[in-house]
Amino acid sequence: MSKIIIANWKMYLNIENAMQYAQQLKRLASVIKSETKLVVCPSFLSLKDICKIFEETVIEVGAQDVFWEELGAYTGEVSVLDMKSLGCRYVIVGHSERRKNFLETNKVVHDKARICLKNGLIPVICIGEDWEEKRSGQRDYVLIRQLTEILQGIEITNLDRVIVAYEPVWAISAGGGISATPEEVQYVHEVIRHVLIDLYGHELVSTCFRMVYGGSVDRENIELYCELPHVSGVLVGSASTKLDIFLDIIKRI
Ligand code: PGA
Repeated sequence: MSKIIIANWKMYLNIENAMQYAQQLKRLASVIKSETKLVVCPSFLSLKDICKIFEETVIEVGAQDVFWEELGAYTGEVSVLDMKSLGCRYVIVGHSERRKNFLETNKVVHDKARICLKNGLIPVICIGEDWEEKRSGQRDYVLIRQLTEILQGIEITNLDRVIVAYEPVWAISAGGGISATPEEVQYVHEVIRHVLIDLYGHELVSTCFRMVYGGSVDRENIELYCELPHVSGVLVGSASTKLDIFLDIIKRI
């Protein structure tokens, strides 16, 4: 099964560093196995340059967020139409850092996922429980609720157009940093699969459905997740911003 690596650069790199990094990564792109898909998600201000650098390479580009309307009086927001015109193919929606810092709700994530799908961009829908929810045994409930509220009412005829990212908040390096065990990730994959079957039916889910894991993925643990047969890949934050570490991750996937 082909694997996908999504690099979430967050706000770690300034424009100059992001461009230098992208140029180097482009030169080293031969380490990417033909069955591996690589998506880089830089900051909005670097998006245009990074799309240009990776043009006509196997490396694809995603945004870290999007607004839920295409155009209008929305001060400070960024349109999906611009992302699309730059050549961006993926958008991370519902990241826990946005839920926490900007109080994004499942409804907001729903609207963002919808606008991506309408415009042919692939939303990388992040879900995940926090430590307290995990500790009190509410994990499955939280995940089922997040995913159902985000996807309900969104018609999907091809689940290849969506990626679900399981990112437990406690596992993200900036907020705890204990990576989830492969057993937990495998179990959550089953939970997500059942929610998708409820929403879209067995047939659709059995043909295609992609879940990636994110949270302190590094060169030391990448193999553990990639060996999981049903997990489609990883979402990597901090470790994706250091070229030597990221190259090791790419080689080991
Ligand atoms: P991390 O971040 O790899 O630094 O834990 C992952 C993410 O937040 O997407």
